[in-house]
Amino acid sequence: MDAEITLRVDGTTHRLAVDCRTTLLDALRERLGVTSAKKGCDHGQCGACTVLADGRRVLSCLTLAVARSGSEVTTAAGLAPDGELHPVQRAFLEHDGFQCGYCTPGQICSAVGMLDEAGRGWPSHVSPDLTAHPALTRAEIAERMSGNLCRCAAYAGIVAAIEEAAG
Ligand code: FES
Ligand code: FES
Repeated sequence: MDAEITLRVDGTTHRLAVDCRTTLLDALRERLGVTSAKKGCDHGQCGACTVLADGRRVLSCLTLAVARSGSEVTTAAGLAPDGELHPVQRAFLEHDGFQCGYCTPGQICSAVGMLDEAGRGWPSHVSPDLTAHPALTRAEIAERMSGNLCRCAAYAGIVAAIEEAAG
C-alpha cells in the first residue's frame, strides 16, 4: 500500500508517494537522491544511516518514512548550508576524525544530537549521577557515540573532535 508523505530534508520540502514499508533511509537515498546518509548494515547496528529528525538522532534504516511524514530531517550535508561548516564538522576535519569517511555523516549527525542531549542534561548509561548535569568525559562521549561504528577505527580523532566541539 502506498502513502502520500511530506518530508522536509535539509531545508527542501518533498512530497512523494511511498510504499508504507519504505524506510526513511531508502526514501532519502533511492527516492530523493539524498546520499549523505549512508547504508552500512541496514539493520540498526552501525549508525552510518544516522540523521536528525526534528532535532533528534534516529537510525534512518530502522525508521519508516511514513512515520516521519511532516518531519524536518537533517543530514550531515544539511548541517553545512551554503558551505559554512558546522562546528562539529570543522572539529572532525581538524582532528582527523575520519579515514575512508563512510561512517562520517552518521558520526557527525550523532555527535550533534548527542551534544544536544547532554546539553539538556540527559544522563547516559555511564553517568555517575542521574540527576547532575553530565560532564562530557571521554567515557561519556564513548558511551553516547557507541551506536556509531567506524571500520577504520578513527575513534581517537572522533572523540577529540567531539571534545572540542563540546567546548
Ligand atoms: S545502516 Fe542503519 S544502523 Fe547500519
Ligand atoms: S572513517 Fe572509514 S568507516 Fe569510519
